Amino acid sequence: SDPFPFYGQYQAGIVTPAQDRLHFVSFDVTTDERAELVELLQDWTAAAARLTQGREAGSYGAVGGAPEAAPDDTGEALGLPASGLTLTVGFGGSLFDGRFGLAGRRPAALADLPKFPGELLNPEISGGDVCVQACAHDPQVAVHAIRNLARIGFGKVSVRWSQLGFGRTSSTSRAQATPRNLMGFKDGTNNLKLEDSALLRDHLWAAAQDGSPWMAGGSYLVTRKIRMTVETWDRTSLAEQEQIFGRNKGEGAPLGKKAEFDTPDFTAKGPDGELHIKSDAHVRLAHPSAHGEARLLRRGYNFVDGSDGLGRLDAGLFFIAYQRDPRKQFVPVQMSLAKSDPLNEYIKHVSSGLFACPPGVRDASDYWGRTLF
Ligand code: HEM
Repeated sequence: SDPFPFYGQYQAGIVTPAQDRLHFVSFDVTTDERAELVELLQDWTAAAARLTQGREAGSYGAVGGAPEAAPDDTGEALGLPASGLTLTVGFGGSLFDGRFGLAGRRPAALADLPKFPGELLNPEISGGDVCVQACAHDPQVAVHAIRNLARIGFGKVSVRWSQLGFGRTSSTSRAQATPRNLMGFKDGTNNLKLEDSALLRDHLWAAAQDGSPWMAGGSYLVTRKIRMTVETWDRTSLAEQEQIFGRNKGEGAPLGKKAEFDTPDFTAKGPDGELHIKSDAHVRLAHPSAHGEARLLRRGYNFVDGSDGLGRLDAGLFFIAYQRDPRKQFVPVQMSLAKSDPLNEYIKHVSSGLFACPPGVRDASDYWGRTLF
């Protein structure tokens, strides 16, 4: 398949049909020099423009440079195609703390997330000044890209945390089949999709009139690492699993309906007089109709980070969602899920990230974050 274009009005990796693999990284900026940060973003942009087209990170490459110099590409993607690689950059709230003269530029929509009931966040794998989301069909290609950005950033940034994901848990295009999460359910059925242009304009892309003109054409990214206790889930009856989500497991149809894309009927009752979709079902609590029509573009991935030493898999969902304003979208949805979702018995949010992803890079003279600086 052809590489995804790197240049454009919007960053790639948001409405791009979700690839199968993820390597997400969050950096702390270690330099205090604004000029060095800008220079790094320019160097990263040049490397990203090459990497996403299946080229090496630098112009000499892994083996074309002087033998006495460290190569300007690490080499593990030699011979591999672009593999649908996209690289998407975002800026965390901490970047606006005054070190770089950006305090007045922090978008209101980048307000720190509130504390949600039940979360158990580990600060060491949360937050960060700058994030990069690498998505590709080949994990080697995604890891290669992040590794080379970290290498280029040596002395200016350090890796704060990073997360690998396998198996997308969302569709972001109607051309894609809906994948399944590690609970075995189709995930991404009622997602914002690239074909929904009017909804994307209203719910996904920030606009100049939102208050931060530098973010026009950008989007806000929320990440949540959500650990699942899959062992407990796997001992739960099929009927209970389906009631928790409000959809059936085989087809992904809303309970009481037949096909995956049938519209859920939240008022329909069975012969026993019970609601088909229970009052606390995940899809009811998260549905746009419960939140002033607020929508999210979900783009998460499954993870299994080995085991936890207690005889359990360290598994779950690395939740990723893009939106125009988290205060009106992620926050109210997550608040109601945190309070009432029966899924909470099987999940724990252990890390959190919030990033302002700037508009796309227009051409080779432009760079990631130019409108901010
Ligand atoms: C829908 C799973 C966490 C927001 C769904 C669906 C599943 C699912 C199976 C139904 C299919 C679909 O429309 O995609 C999960 C699992 C989670 C989780 C396993 C945690 C491990 C979250 C979180 C949010 C969220 C943290 C946002 C705060 C939504 C939304 C929908 C949805 C907006 C669509 C509801 C609709 O319009 O019908 N989720 N989800 N989910 N989920 Fe989650």
